[in-house]
Amino acid sequence: LDNGLLKTPPMGWMAWERFRCDINCIDDPKNCISESLFRDMADRLVEDGWKELGYEYVIIDDCWMSRLRDEQGRLQPESFRFPGGIPKLARYIHDRGLKLGIYADMGNYTCMGYPGTTLDNIEIDAQTFASWGVDYLKFDGCNSNPVEQMLGYPLMSKALNATGRPMVYSCSWPVYQGGLPPNVNYTLLGDICHLWRNYDDIQDSWDSLQSIIDWFSNNQDDLQPIAGPGRWNDPDMLIIGNFGLSLDQARSQMAIWAIMASPLIMSNDLRNLDNSARAILQNKVAIGINQDPLGIQGRRLLKEKSQIEVYWRPLVGSTSALVFLSRRTDMPYRYHTSLAKLNYDAGNYRAYDVFGGSLVKGLNATTELTLSINPSGVVMWYVYQETQYKEETETLHRAK
Ligand code: DGJ
Repeated sequence: LDNGLLKTPPMGWMAWERFRCDINCIDDPKNCISESLFRDMADRLVEDGWKELGYEYVIIDDCWMSRLRDEQGRLQPESFRFPGGIPKLARYIHDRGLKLGIYADMGNYTCMGYPGTTLDNIEIDAQTFASWGVDYLKFDGCNSNPVEQMLGYPLMSKALNATGRPMVYSCSWPVYQGGLPPNVNYTLLGDICHLWRNYDDIQDSWDSLQSIIDWFSNNQDDLQPIAGPGRWNDPDMLIIGNFGLSLDQARSQMAIWAIMASPLIMSNDLRNLDNSARAILQNKVAIGINQDPLGIQGRRLLKEKSQIEVYWRPLVGSTSALVFLSRRTDMPYRYHTSLAKLNYDAGNYRAYDVFGGSLVKGLNATTELTLSINPSGVVMWYVYQETQYKEETETLHRAK
C-alpha cells in the first residue's frame, strides 16, 4: 500500500509465537497476554538497544479481547488482563518512541474464538483502533469464507484510511487462499495492504523454518516480483532466542529473512535472551541488508546437489548480499564457487562476512572461493566493488 508507510520492512516484536494464548494471569503472571507483558517488552526494546536499531512495533496478537463487545458494539480488551485499557498502553508505548500494533480477525471469531470483525463491524473496529492510537493492524482470516474475505480485506483498508490515522495494514488473506495465484491476487494485495502472510504459521523448530524457506523459494517466481517499498511478503515471525533453533539455525533465519526483505518481527522473550541470540538479531549489517532502500526481494539462485543453496539480493549502489545455506546434516561443507559463477560481472570486489566479522579483500569475479558452511547454517556476505569502498562502509562493518 503506497501511502508512505513501510518504505522498508517493519521491525518489532509480536506476542504470538512465543506467548500464544496464555491467558492465565493467576498462574503465570509474567507470561500471560496482558498489558504488563507488552510494557515489559517495550521497556526491553528501549533499554536494550533494539529501538535504535529499528525494532519499533510492539504488536498484540490474538487473545487480548473480552468475549463480548461493549454496549456501543466496540471491541474491548479483557479488563482483568488490560486494566488500563488500550489507549493507556498506547500512550506508554508512544512515550517511549515505539508504535503499537493490534490484532483482529476478518470473520465471525478470531482463530482462538474471540469476537471477530464481521463485515458490518469493519468500520467501527477501524474507528476504535484509530481512536485508541493504534499504529498497526494485523487482520487475520479465521472463520470467514472466500467471499467475505474478498469483501472484507479491501473494506478494512478503506476504513483504516478513512480514519485519517496512518496505520500499517497487515493482511493474512493469502494464507486462507493457498498463498498463490490465481487464487491470490497479489496486485490487489499490494494496493490495499502493506504486508501479507502468505503461508503457514511458524513454529519453534528448524523443520518449520525449513518448510517456510522452501515454500517461499519454490514459489519465488510468483512472490519475489510483487515485493517492494510499502508491499512486503511476510514469512512470519523471527523465532531466534526461543528453544527450537541452534546457533547456526538462528543465523540461517536472520540471513534468509534479510535476503527475502521479510518483516523482522521477533517473537521471543526479550527479558531472557542469551547473548548469541541478541548478537544475531542486533547484527547491524544483516539489518542493513534487510532494510535496504531499494526494497528488492532476493532470490534463491542455486540449489546444488551437495545440498548447498545460494541466495542473492541486489542492494543500493550496486552492492549485494549473498547467503550460502547448508541443508546438510553431517559436517561443515567446503563449497567451491566464484563470483562469476554467481552472475557477478568482471571487477574487483570485497566481501564482508556478516556473521564471521571478517573482510575478504582483493576478490575478482573469477577468484576461486572456498567457503566452509556449517550443517543447517549459513555464510552470509555483503559484497561491494572495491571502487565503491568508502570509509563509512568499512566502519559500519567493523562496528558490526
Ligand atoms: C493465525 C495466525 O497466522 C497467527 O500468526 C496467529 O495470529 C494466530 N492465528 C492467532 O490465533
